Amino acid sequence: MNIVVLISGRGSNLQAIIKGIEEGLIKARISLVISNKKSAKGLEIAKRHGIKTVFINPKEFLSREEYDSKLIEVISKENPDLIVLAGYMRILSSKFIDTFEGKIVNIHPSLIPSFQGLNAQKQAIEFGAKFSGCTVHFVTKELDNGPIIIQAVVPVLPDDTEETLSNRILQYEHRVYPQAIKWISEGRVQVEGRKVIVKDAKYGTIPVNPSLEDF
Ligand code: GAR
Repeated sequence: MNIVVLISGRGSNLQAIIKGIEEGLIKARISLVISNKKSAKGLEIAKRHGIKTVFINPKEFLSREEYDSKLIEVISKENPDLIVLAGYMRILSSKFIDTFEGKIVNIHPSLIPSFQGLNAQKQAIEFGAKFSGCTVHFVTKELDNGPIIIQAVVPVLPDDTEETLSNRILQYEHRVYPQAIKWISEGRVQVEGRKVIVKDAKYGTIPVNPSLEDF
């Protein structure tokens, strides 16, 4: 399976996915990492692991559509089986999503459909939620709302700051994202409308459903 990863920042999810590949758990190859931010730390991580990188500067394009046309051009050359959004903080145009429909996955730091959009962890704290978590889902035109592959739950504690809750959630992000990509690479992920079934997975477990097998 050939993967293209889109990032905007730190790249810790990218790092977790690379680790899964290098340890032989995920049978895939990342052919390209793209960032919309020049200073994204994730670009350095990719380079250290011998992965090709490209920074595409939004300032060089007049509109989101033009920017995404460039993205489509660059990504299409890689002929990817999967496009992984790993902390990619730009909204994708309809044209982009139409072009790669069914092949784009994202991780969001909440239990969607709660707390979609920016600053999901802060939203959970301010709302007074007692649980939050993370979600790996397919990307559709509705922001942070596509079919859910896997979710992990963590408690929100009385003294949590955005940082402490984000870190607690992140520990699970690094497990559920490689797991979901492994399942996809094994052809075990079936989508029917809104519902995603992982073939032969164990369902009904807390705090990760379906249950982690490898990470
Ligand atoms: C992660 O917490 C990810 O869930 C979040 O950005 C962070 C990226 O961290 N993504 C979103 O909020 C997308 N809406 P990373 O660069 O270290 O992987």
